[in-house]
Amino acid sequence: MTTQRQTGSGATIIGWGTALPDTIVTNADLEARLDTNDAWITERTGIRERRHGSTTAALAVRAGRAALDMAGLTGADVDFVLLATTSPDYQIPSTASQVQEELAIAGGACDLNAACSGFVYGLVQAHGLIAMGLGRVLLIGAETLSRVTDQDDRNTAILFGDGAGAVLLEATDHDQLLAFDLGSDGSARTLLDAPIGGYIRMNGKEVFRRAVTVMVDSARASMADAGVTAADLALVVPHQANIRIIEAACSRLEVPTDRVATVLHETGNTSSASIPLALVRALEDGRVGENDLVLLVGFGAGMSWASAVLRWTGRIPEGRT
Ligand code: COA
Repeated sequence: MTTQRQTGSGATIIGWGTALPDTIVTNADLEARLDTNDAWITERTGIRERRHGSTTAALAVRAGRAALDMAGLTGADVDFVLLATTSPDYQIPSTASQVQEELAIAGGACDLNAACSGFVYGLVQAHGLIAMGLGRVLLIGAETLSRVTDQDDRNTAILFGDGAGAVLLEATDHDQLLAFDLGSDGSARTLLDAPIGGYIRMNGKEVFRRAVTVMVDSARASMADAGVTAADLALVVPHQANIRIIEAACSRLEVPTDRVATVLHETGNTSSASIPLALVRALEDGRVGENDLVLLVGFGAGMSWASAVLRWTGRIPEGRT
């Protein structure tokens, strides 16, 4: 399958979908086998349960297929599949290659690893591919972090979960993406890492401190570039790591909590999948209308950060006019 160039243009999201494994791991389940408890986890993180199981490719295929079905299209209509993941199924080849085969995507396929910033990195790259002439790009964030988390380590086992979210982007004569900011500070890469074949290691306190700063700075950079202010935003979709990080960042940005999308109480931190899972939940709840301004903002290992301001055009979510 090869990717062919057509005409350059802007891009808009025309379909979306999610997938979660069936197995629910509650705080009570963790309490039963680790030196932790539901009250501590809920108060310190906002997480009440997370999902475990499946493979990154299987979750990505389910989410991707749902996005295609929603748009009434098949893989033959898609020129590229971009899979943001930090927990691929194989070292070689890309997990996207399996997704490409199972969804019969007509064009190229590759993985992208920018940790929890991966979906927003991917969104910008998908817009870039469409600006270079592709017609449609399927962007998926998918993770099976339970496989790279030491389930006996209370520092990390309480946080991470598995899941996937996908969006299908199509070339249009206008651009949904108004502005973006992508960043990385490689000197901080040892604060959160997982060696090949090993488990996630994390300095939680330092990650927390830096996360709030980089989210605020990146969001401000994107908003300034887009010429909008926090008061103009209909919805903020932050990376779903910890409710206290989200609240601290949104408070500094002066965004009220009723304009923030959260799903982490049900999913935990699903890295690249977290922003699309929260975005799709908000879309399905009818929280986004035509021409609404939406800010996506993430941070993660690397340390990486990413934000984007979208003007919601194209597909209007059900329940809104
Ligand atoms: N259950 C119960 N108690 C716990 C615990 C757990 N899972 N983990 C730590 N504790 C205890 C500590 O031993 C400490 O006890 P002490 O006061 O008696 O010494 C107390 O709780 C506070 O620990 P601390 O490490 O200061 O907690 P915290 O408020 O920093 O919360 C995190 C820990 C991991 C939840 C928090 O630092 C965090 O979310 N960091 C960001 C992580 C993240 O987002 N990573 C992904 C980035 S993409």
